[in-house]
Amino acid sequence: MQINQHLTSSSTGDLRGKTALITGASRGIGFAIASALAKEGVNIAVNSRSAANLEHVKRELSSYGVKVLACPADLSDASTPAKIIGDIITHFGQLNILVNNAGIAVRKPLAATTANEWDMHMAINARAPFLLSREAIPYLKKSDHATIINISSVVGSKAYVNQGAYTASKHALEGMSKVLAQEVFQDGIRVHVIASGGVATGMITGTRPDLDVSVLPAPEEIADIVLFLLTHRGNAVIDKVNVRRSTKSPWT
Ligand SMILES: NC(=O)c1ccc[n+]([C@@H]2O[C@H](COP(=O)([O-])OP(=O)(O)OC[C@H]3O[C@@H](n4cnc5c(N)ncnc54)[C@H](OP(=O)(O)O)[C@@H]3O)[C@@H](O)[C@H]2O)c1
Repeated sequence: MQINQHLTSSSTGDLRGKTALITGASRGIGFAIASALAKEGVNIAVNSRSAANLEHVKRELSSYGVKVLACPADLSDASTPAKIIGDIITHFGQLNILVNNAGIAVRKPLAATTANEWDMHMAINARAPFLLSREAIPYLKKSDHATIINISSVVGSKAYVNQGAYTASKHALEGMSKVLAQEVFQDGIRVHVIASGGVATGMITGTRPDLDVSVLPAPEEIADIVLFLLTHRGNAVIDKVNVRRSTKSPWT
């Protein structure tokens, strides 16, 4: 079996001149990932709903000397992914890296969760990564550093009370990622999942007000993991990275 691995020197480490889409890049983990990649010379397409926030992000990332495209759009709309990928190809002519990071999490028991809240979690956290991946695949196949990174959560495999819709959506994201990884690896496309416990962003203060934010990983630490995955494209592949805060007991 011949697997298209593209093991060139540029694909094992140097990210300069590559193009990446980071969803949910206006703040938190997505902004940290976009900044880390821009510092490595990656041209960046940034998405979130707020055009004004993305203009601020665009100015900041451009200061690293890379090209930045703002793609303001709501990922709960099923027509958004095709439009974003189309705009990126029109603008950059290529796409090497897709980071499905945008997400929502509403803290509620399932007994109080509405159908709309359930649907929004599934649409943003699971369906959008599927549709963005599907639309990106033809271009990733032509790319020499083809990578999809899906930002899951500890609840992609565990189950936390008061996070039922969020837990279900991250389980769906991980299930989709496992199938996707198998379906595209022979095309040289690598699919990674990063599943973290609490990270110090605005999201965690809403979902886990009980946690001390000062002991949580910073968003930049998740960005470091993304960089590691992208710059280690030898013959060893990491399918999933589980992350916990240093104060939490291992393997729990
Ligand atoms: N923080 C944690 O503790 C933690 C732990 C594990 C995993 N995660 C995951 O990490 C990812 C990022 O989380 P975060 O903590 O950085 O969250 P955050 O600070 O709340 O940021 C969420 C990002 O997603 C965007 N977004 C939300 N709804 C959107 C939509 N409908 N369309 C497009 N963009 C949308 C937001 O921008 P706009 O509001 O402008 O649209 C924002 O840029 C999520 O997938 C989350 O589940 C977080």
